Amino acid sequence: MKQVNNGMKSRTSRRSFIQKGMLTASGAALGTGLLANGLSMLGEEHDEGREEGSGRLTKGDAAILRFLAAAEIIETDLWIQYNELAGVQDEEVPGITGGNPAYMAAFLPLDSDMSQYIHDNTEDEISHQAFINAYLVSKGAEPVNLDRFRTLPSSKATGARQIPRLTNLMQLTVDTSWWTRYRSRTENPDLGDTFPQAIPSLSVGQHPAIPRSDADLTPPDHLQAIANTAGFHFAFIEQGGTTLYPALAQRVTHPEVLRILLSIGPTETAHFQTWQDKAGNAPPLTDPTNPKLVFPDLNSPPFGGEDFQTNLIMPEPCPFLNRKFPACSIIRPTQTNGAAMGALKALTDDGLFIGQSPQFFEFLRDLAEDADEARRER
Ligand SMILES: [Fe+2]
Ligand SMILES: [Fe+2]
Repeated sequence: MKQVNNGMKSRTSRRSFIQKGMLTASGAALGTGLLANGLSMLGEEHDEGREEGSGRLTKGDAAILRFLAAAEIIETDLWIQYNELAGVQDEEVPGITGGNPAYMAAFLPLDSDMSQYIHDNTEDEISHQAFINAYLVSKGAEPVNLDRFRTLPSSKATGARQIPRLTNLMQLTVDTSWWTRYRSRTENPDLGDTFPQAIPSLSVGQHPAIPRSDADLTPPDHLQAIANTAGFHFAFIEQGGTTLYPALAQRVTHPEVLRILLSIGPTETAHFQTWQDKAGNAPPLTDPTNPKLVFPDLNSPPFGGEDFQTNLIMPEPCPFLNRKFPACSIIRPTQTNGAAMGALKALTDDGLFIGQSPQFFEFLRDLAEDADEARRER
């Protein structure tokens, strides 16, 4: 009965890919999936047993994978920008520019291996989006292509390629509540709890996480504030992935799709764990060009204590499912309702999409809504 209801809903949904976004998508990407599936668009739309554009996947599995593909394309775009400026420069990641030596040097207080980690995180995201899209195509389902939304300007600083981008790293509002969320022993966002910011001034206003031009390379504490912002942004992005995969995995149907989510998700957690450790090394300072931006000493009052301590980089045990159970060390949040839309909102609130078109937001909202409508089938 559930499946019938889902199917009926899908045929009347304004969010159907065939009825909506994909009809206006570029022909090449669209054609791949349809040809692989061997079905005409209309034929598939009227096939009761199949879901629109989902090929041999259930509609829900295809929708979840598509949202993840979009998220990974977005991650890839932002990580490539970081890598051009501060990552190890080699052929594993597109855009060998020589980097920006001053910006790279500003990461050294966080860790002497930051360039390697930035490079490796970037390479991982490239592989995630390429794999998920290839998997969708292999099942006759539509892949995701966001190329038409690559419209945002690049940094003008030395080391940045002058190519259009999907994401904006120059006006970020970084939510740093993940810091206290993972250190709390008594609170869990899935039980309605909220968490204080580690860097309150980063969670308001708009801050560059990359130098906007070479003018941002001085004075030194200003550039350090930019690198510190990036350091906390890295962890913000990767804790999002850490939550998104287990949250969506609860609603996939096919064991192989579950395997994909369970295999990619923990790599996001590996990234998060690394960045959480490095962010704790960000030097306390005030940005001389913006006295409102303050990186406090998290180990001293009014911070300090277990909720802020910088070397508490593993998740503290916390309540899980119900406070009647003993505390458990877990990823949080992981509740599944609205998880895709929650991820999209978090990225939007982060300022990553400042300057993007209404069509971009509409397309991503459609993907998120479709993913959040997915239900595990029998
Ligand atoms: Fe990823
Ligand atoms: Fe990631």
